[in-house]
Amino acid sequence: MKGKEWYQADEIAEAYDDKRFSGGGQFIDRREKAAVLNALGPVEEKSILEVACGTGRFTVMLAREGADVVGLDVSGPMLQQGKRKAAATGVDEAVEFMRGDAARLPFPDDHFDAVFAMRFFHLADRPVTFLREIKRVSKGPVLFDTFNSQSARVVYNWLLPMGSRLYSRSDVDALLADAGLELVDEKHDFVLPYGFYRGLPESIASPFRQVDEGLGSTGLGDALASVSYWQTTDAEE
Ligand SMILES: C[S@@+](CC[C@H](N)C(=O)[O-])C[C@H]1O[C@@H](n2cnc3c(N)ncnc32)[C@H](O)[C@@H]1O
Repeated sequence: MKGKEWYQADEIAEAYDDKRFSGGGQFIDRREKAAVLNALGPVEEKSILEVACGTGRFTVMLAREGADVVGLDVSGPMLQQGKRKAAATGVDEAVEFMRGDAARLPFPDDHFDAVFAMRFFHLADRPVTFLREIKRVSKGPVLFDTFNSQSARVVYNWLLPMGSRLYSRSDVDALLADAGLELVDEKHDFVLPYGFYRGLPESIASPFRQVDEGLGSTGLGDALASVSYWQTTDAEE
C-alpha cells in the first residue's frame, strides 16, 4: 500500500491541503467536492462514511450539508488536521474522525447510507480488497475516483514521491466486476495536469480551467481525462 506510512508524518499532514489545493489547486478542490456532492445527491441526515478521509476536506463539507459523517483514516496526523478543520468550521459535533484501516472497516454490513473514498485507489496495491470492504458497509452508493492511465498523468507520474497506480477503463470495469459493483454514473475531468494548476496563482489558472472545462465537455476530453469519478452500487440489489 503506497502512502500508508507517508501520511503518518506530521509535516506531510500539515502541508497536505496547502500543497495541493491552494492557488490554482483550488480548482481541483472545488471540482472534486462538486463531484462528491453530485454523486451523493442530497445528504441531509444521511449517514455517510468517508474512507481514507485524510484532512477531512469532504468530511467537513458533508457535515456542513447536514450529513452525519464518519471520516476514517489510518494516519493520526491527517485526522488531526481534519479535527482542526471541523472545529474551525463549527461542525465538530456532526463529524466523527476515526483511526482505522480501510482493509478492515470496523462497522457491520450495510451500516451507512453511502460510502466513498477519494484520492485513495491510486495508492492501493490490491484495490479490490478495499472496494469489497467499502461495498460491504454501504447500503447505498459507493463512490470513488481513479487517476487514469490514458492521460497527461503518465508523463509526470514517475516524478511523484510514490507514483500512483493509474487505471484504464478496462481496469475499472474488471475491478467493479470483481467487487460485485454495478456502474450507475461516471464523470471524467481535467485534461490539463493537476501539477500545472498547482503551480499557478488562481487568477492565472482560471482561463486555463475554462479551456479545460470546454475540452472536457467533448468526447476527446473524456478520453484524455486524468481523473474519473465512479458512482456505483451493489450489483446484486
Ligand atoms: C492522498 S490522501 C487523500 C485524503 C483525502 N481523501 C483527500 O482526498 O484529500 C490518501 C489518504 O489515504 C490514507 N490511507 C492510506 N492507506 C490507508 C489505509 N489502509 N486505510 C485507511 N486510510 C489509508 C492516508 O493516510 C491518506 O490520508
